[in-house]
Amino acid sequence: MQIFNTINELQKVLAGWRESQQTIGFVATMGGLHLGHLSLIKLAKNQADRVLVSIFVNPTQFAADEDFESYPRTLAADLEQLKKLGVDGIFTPTIEQIYPQGKGFERNQFGEKKYLFEILCGKTRPHFFFGVLQVVKRLFEIIKPDVAIFGQKDYQQLQIIKQFSSNIEIISAEILREKNGLAMSTRNQYLSPDERKIAGKLYEILSQLADGKLQITSAKVALKQHFSLDYLEILDANSLEKISPKTSKIAILSAVFLGKTRLIDNIITEQKFENLGEKNV
Ligand code: PAF
Repeated sequence: MQIFNTINELQKVLAGWRESQQTIGFVATMGGLHLGHLSLIKLAKNQADRVLVSIFVNPTQFAADEDFESYPRTLAADLEQLKKLGVDGIFTPTIEQIYPQGKGFERNQFGEKKYLFEILCGKTRPHFFFGVLQVVKRLFEIIKPDVAIFGQKDYQQLQIIKQFSSNIEIISAEILREKNGLAMSTRNQYLSPDERKIAGKLYEILSQLADGKLQITSAKVALKQHFSLDYLEILDANSLEKISPKTSKIAILSAVFLGKTRLIDNIITEQKFENLGEKNV
């Protein structure tokens, strides 16, 4: 396993892989690796001859009052896990290498798809998806992977990356969950043992909604009993627009706060929308 600290070192090795006709699978991470990340990497190994993982805590996707400084940085443990998985390369760039021209980004270049950045998590975190797309595009430009894997847990992020990365195959990986249903996330480290128990309620309630046991208004009431609700929405899973007669798959998406920790989760289902309490949406 090779660790690349600079773009030059990395690109030399990537060129060698390409010359010998090997495909490159890429998994972008901010470190703080957990089993969810490892499942993305396993998927990448099935999809490509070589697997490259980046570890870069991207400052442009954090607002000034968010946890950029305190975000879990666990490089030694991350490298240990990646070695065991047989990853070929790790890219650990500096902020200056990723943003040689500074960290500013353009918010107005997304035309009619700009709504994707502004709905759901984009309402509470208006900077977030612009920062994510900025770093993902930059990493793609440096690495030029054949295929990249992103988790379904960050469903809105996944849809935005799919929308704006036309020349790279984007594959989504299923959500990995703790025993109580809590979707795995680096930020789960912020939860106290009691909060971890409560956190499982998010998936429980979303599942009840997906199964037609709760309608959306009662699901919101149920969520509010345990969390401070940011949003619960049911949208077309392909476009993240309102459900229409064209909708073939629906996305049930939610974000909640538990203490200071923000949790997101979703269920994608082919369940008929009428069964989910359409009138209440
Ligand atoms: O999902 C994440 O960990 C990050 O948003 C990503 C895609 C690595 C970009 O920094």
